[in-house]
Amino acid sequence: MADNIFVFKVLFAIFIFNLKLFLFSNNCLMKVIKLILVFLQMTLLMISCKEPVKKQILTTNKANYLNKGKSIAQATQLVLGKNLINAIETKGITNALEFCNEKAIPLTDSMAIVKNASVKRVSDKNRNSNNFANDLELEYINQAKIEIEKKGSAKPKIIEDNNQVITYYPITSTAMCLKCHGNTQTDIDSKTLKMIKTKYPKDKAVNYLSNELRGIWVIKMDK
Ligand code: HEC
Repeated sequence: MADNIFVFKVLFAIFIFNLKLFLFSNNCLMKVIKLILVFLQMTLLMISCKEPVKKQILTTNKANYLNKGKSIAQATQLVLGKNLINAIETKGITNALEFCNEKAIPLTDSMAIVKNASVKRVSDKNRNSNNFANDLELEYINQAKIEIEKKGSAKPKIIEDNNQVITYYPITSTAMCLKCHGNTQTDIDSKTLKMIKTKYPKDKAVNYLSNELRGIWVIKMDK
């Protein structure tokens, strides 16, 4: 931003200088050349004036959007996690599936209304077919997987799309998740597995280990 103001000032000074030369020059050819120069500089000035405004939206607010998105994801995760644990404790793991099955999407949707943003969880290996990641999301998933493998965790990502800002956050698996997303032989009991297969015939969300990328949060906010 500071750089852009500096460029603007320099261009403006050159512009004034050339304008003066143009006005006080009596040679005709020189006048034409100067006129072209003045026009060129006016265009440059206009570009340099426009650019900072466009960039400013994201540079100054990038951290704000990332924080806002994070708090939306965390709040949704908290509600989802609490309800899931509660369902497992009161009804057992197999019946808790019903909770995930019927409540997860409506719950994320209602969180979105409360926070005035759209919230979803998507994955490259999805259970619910509505949760399959699109190309942009897959790009982040692949990048996050590499980061987790190298450093143990992945950074969030922010992109701009017309009038919206989209933020991505990693969702990693813990030991608790493996009861429904882990090894089909050793982690998930046969009754639960049978139920998963009935409800989600095309399920891909199994055979995860702890601390693997299970999916991502996608938060869309208006600019
Ligand atoms: C009681 C079983 C159960 C447990 C435990 C469980 N999940 Fe799930 N999970 C499901 C079901 C069922 C769905 C599909 C929900 C739906 O239909 O929207 C799902 C969906 C998801 C999705 C959305 C993407 C997709 O595959 O459709 C993510 C991400 C996810 N789970 C992550 C986790 C994480 C992380 C944990 C551990 C903290 C966890 N789950 C624990 C059953 C479970």
